Amino acid sequence: MYKIAVLPGDGTGPEVMKEGIKVLKAVGKKKGIKFEFTDFDFGAERYLKTKEVLPESAVSELRDFDSIYLGAIGDPRVEPGILELGILLKLRFELDQYINLRPVKLYPNVYTPIKDKGPDEIDFVIVRENTEGLYIGAGGFLRKNTPDEVAVQNMLSTRKGAERCIRYAMEVARKRNKEKKVTLCAKTNVLTYTCNLWDRAFNEVAKDYPDIKTDYAHVDATTMWMVKNPEWFDVIVTLNLFGDIITDLGAMIQGGMGVAAGGNINPEGVSMFEPIGGSAPKYTGKNIINPVACIMAGQMMLEVLGEEEAAALVEEAAIDTIGKMESMSAGKMGMSTTEVGDSIAEYIKNKK
Ligand code: IPM
Ligand code: MN
Repeated sequence: MYKIAVLPGDGTGPEVMKEGIKVLKAVGKKKGIKFEFTDFDFGAERYLKTKEVLPESAVSELRDFDSIYLGAIGDPRVEPGILELGILLKLRFELDQYINLRPVKLYPNVYTPIKDKGPDEIDFVIVRENTEGLYIGAGGFLRKNTPDEVAVQNMLSTRKGAERCIRYAMEVARKRNKEKKVTLCAKTNVLTYTCNLWDRAFNEVAKDYPDIKTDYAHVDATTMWMVKNPEWFDVIVTLNLFGDIITDLGAMIQGGMGVAAGGNINPEGVSMFEPIGGSAPKYTGKNIINPVACIMAGQMMLEVLGEEEAAALVEEAAIDTIGKMESMSAGKMGMSTTEVGDSIAEYIKNKK
């Protein structure tokens, strides 16, 4: 039995999470997997009521789960940064979820703005370092709110942090068994310390993987190739902020935020899975948001838990329903949020 902590979160988070759990229950029933779901109310509502972002006990409680399933964090009523740093980044860091795994895969019948590319060309994985870089929150102000104000924001890379992330990327390339290629995405021509460390770590780790081809692209060029020649990529490994930026681009070429899922992975600990699109507050309560991203986050959770058959069935079911949807955009799916979840769960139930 798997103990799953459920954090529906803010905005449309609870709506997509309901469909995600519906699908997990369906596949659990089919494949004889038992889940025990426990809800946590972390998010804007709780913060506005109690002024507490995350209770003291939260992290240690979450450590006892097999996995965390997260809807979305963020609410316009709360100043930017408070919930993001206090919940999402806090959990990523405290649980040492050092990998942020984000597949970019175009499914059949999904519109991509790159009109000459299809599912054969758009299929790669971005491995984003998730606990270092520019996200560590080190820095400060000097003479704040004066004309002489100075701000610094420090970027930090550790050899250990780079190495474990690069190693993970190599393993992903091996497991995918496609081109068996890992591209390091960095900015070695300007960030001559942090990216230099990554570059050396990359070449060093690559020696342990003679079956994997290696490549390098600067981050700005990466955005260009992702649009022009997405088929060049198999696995991209990159630093935290670069990964944040290029995975939003990845989400767009795979059909948008309605489809894009991500995993915050600690291979030795508790991982957390989420749709990468955010809370989309303007669609809250309308039953029009696309739950596919959240369902695919659940699919990724199954994969990481080692339930590969169940994961494959969820993907197959999602591809079937995607084939019946008019678009991946909220309000234009030709189906409601609940209907998409029902349809995927139904396929799983009826699968021979
Ligand atoms: C993401 C998000 C977060 C990030 C924000 C909400 C802190 O954009 O998961 O990509 O920057 O990592
Ligand atoms: Mn992001």
